[in-house]
Amino acid sequence: MTDHDIRVLDDSQYRAAHTLFRGTLHYPPAADDGWKLAQDSYEPGRAFGAFADDELIGTVQAFSSQMAVPGGAVVPHAAVSRVGVRVDWTRRGVLSALQRAQLRSFVESGDVVATLRASESLIYGRFGYGVATRYRTVRIDRSRAKPRTRITGRVRLVDLEPGEQLVRSLYEQVAPRRVGTIGRWPAWWSMGLHQPSRDERPKIAVRSSDGEDDGYLIYKVKPGVHDASESKPTTLDVIDLWARTPEAWADLWLFALGVDLVAEVTAEGRPVDEPLEWLLGDRRACKTTAEEDETWLRLVDVPAALSARTYRDRAGTAPVLIGVRDTYLPDNTGTYRVSADGVSRVTDAPELVLDVDTLASAYLGDVSFSTLAATRRLDVVEPDAPARADALFAVPEIPWCGTFF
Ligand SMILES: CC(C)(COP(=O)(O)OP(=O)(O)OC[C@H]1O[C@@H](n2cnc3c(N)ncnc32)[C@H](O)[C@@H]1OP(=O)(O)O)[C@@H](O)C(=O)NCCC(=O)NCCS
Repeated sequence: MTDHDIRVLDDSQYRAAHTLFRGTLHYPPAADDGWKLAQDSYEPGRAFGAFADDELIGTVQAFSSQMAVPGGAVVPHAAVSRVGVRVDWTRRGVLSALQRAQLRSFVESGDVVATLRASESLIYGRFGYGVATRYRTVRIDRSRAKPRTRITGRVRLVDLEPGEQLVRSLYEQVAPRRVGTIGRWPAWWSMGLHQPSRDERPKIAVRSSDGEDDGYLIYKVKPGVHDASESKPTTLDVIDLWARTPEAWADLWLFALGVDLVAEVTAEGRPVDEPLEWLLGDRRACKTTAEEDETWLRLVDVPAALSARTYRDRAGTAPVLIGVRDTYLPDNTGTYRVSADGVSRVTDAPELVLDVDTLASAYLGDVSFSTLAATRRLDVVEPDAPARADALFAVPEIPWCGTFF
C-alpha cells in the first residue's frame, strides 16, 4: 500500500502538471502565451500524474516520435519529458511509480524505444535508460577562424512563417539518415520557433544548389561587443543545422562564420565527429567547451529493438549469445542470439550478460562491448564474446540525436 497513486491525466489537468514540473526545475509557471504553445504538446494518454489525497505531487509525460536505428529502419519512439516530483514528496518512490506506469504504457502503445535527456546522471539507469549518444558544445573565435574555403552554393535568409515549413520538410528528409535521430512532433517546432517575445525569435537561412534546397541553419545573434576577448562578445548561436550533403554543411557553417560584427560563433548539441576544425584556417579558433551525454535510451521492447537494426556482416563474424536482465520490464529478460542474419530468442546459456540500460548504451554503436567489459559494466562468460559483439554492432558513423526536448 502506498500513500500515492498514479493516474493518466486529462486535458483539464495538463496546465497544473506543467506548472508542477516547471516548479521542480525552479521556474515560475508559464505565462498564458507560453502555455498556449506548450498546451498543444500534451498528447491524450501520454501524461501521468501522481496524486496524494487527490493532490498532484508528481508528473511525467511523453511525445510520440520515431528513432532511426543502424541499418536505416525507423522505430516507434516515446520522447520522455517534463519529469518532476514536488519537493516535499521526493525520495519516497513517486518517480519510481510514475516510471513503472509509463513504461507499461509504452509497451501497450507499441513503442519500441523511449529516450530522454537527464537533468542528473544518477537518476535513470535504474529504470533501464542508458547513455546512447553524446554531443559537444563549441565556441569559435571568429576573428581567428579564417575559413579556408568559400560558399559554393546560395544561402538565403527566409522569413519565419514560410521558413518553418521549409525547414521541417528538410529536417524530415535529412535527419533519419543519421543513427540516433528522432522524429520531431509539431509542438517541438512551434515551441522552438515561435517564442512569445519577438526579440527571441530565431533567424532561418536555407542553402540551395542548382535551385534545390539542401540544408538549413537556424540561429540567433546575441548583441554585445564585437571583440571575443571582451566579457560579453556579440555571439551568433547555431541552434539547428542540417544538410543533405557535405557541400551544403560547409556552406551553412561558412555562412554562420561570415556574419559581420559577430565576435563568437557558438553551438551546443553538435555531433562529436563534426569536422569543424578542418574548415578553419586556424583550427585552434574552435574550442570544444563541453562534451556531454545526450540521448538516454530505453529499449522498451528488446526483441523488437534488436531485430529492427542490422548487424555488420564481416566475413567470419560468429554469432553471440547476449543475456539481458530487465527488472522493470521482465518480459525482456532472456538470451538473444545475434548474428549478421538477424536476432532470435533462445534458451541457450548466454556468453555475456548485461542489464538492459547497458545494452541500450551499446545498441546504437556509441560504445563497444569490449569497453563495457573493461569497465565491468557487463559479465563476460565466454572471453571472446565482447569482441564478437563489437564486430556485429559496429556502425560506420557515431550516433547523434541533435534534438533537445
Ligand atoms: C528527479 C526526481 C524526479 C526524482 O523523484 P523521486 O520521487 O524523488 O524519485 P524516487 O523516490 O522514486 O527515487 C528512486 C530512486 O532514485 C534515486 N534518485 C532519485 N533522484 C535522484 C537524484 N537526483 N540523484 C540520485 N539519485 C536519485 C533515489 O534515491 C531512489 O533510489 P533507490 O531506488 O536506490 O532508493 C525529483 O527529485 C525531481 O523532481 N527533481 C527535480 C526535477 C528534475 O530533475 N527532474 C528530472 C528532469 S529529467
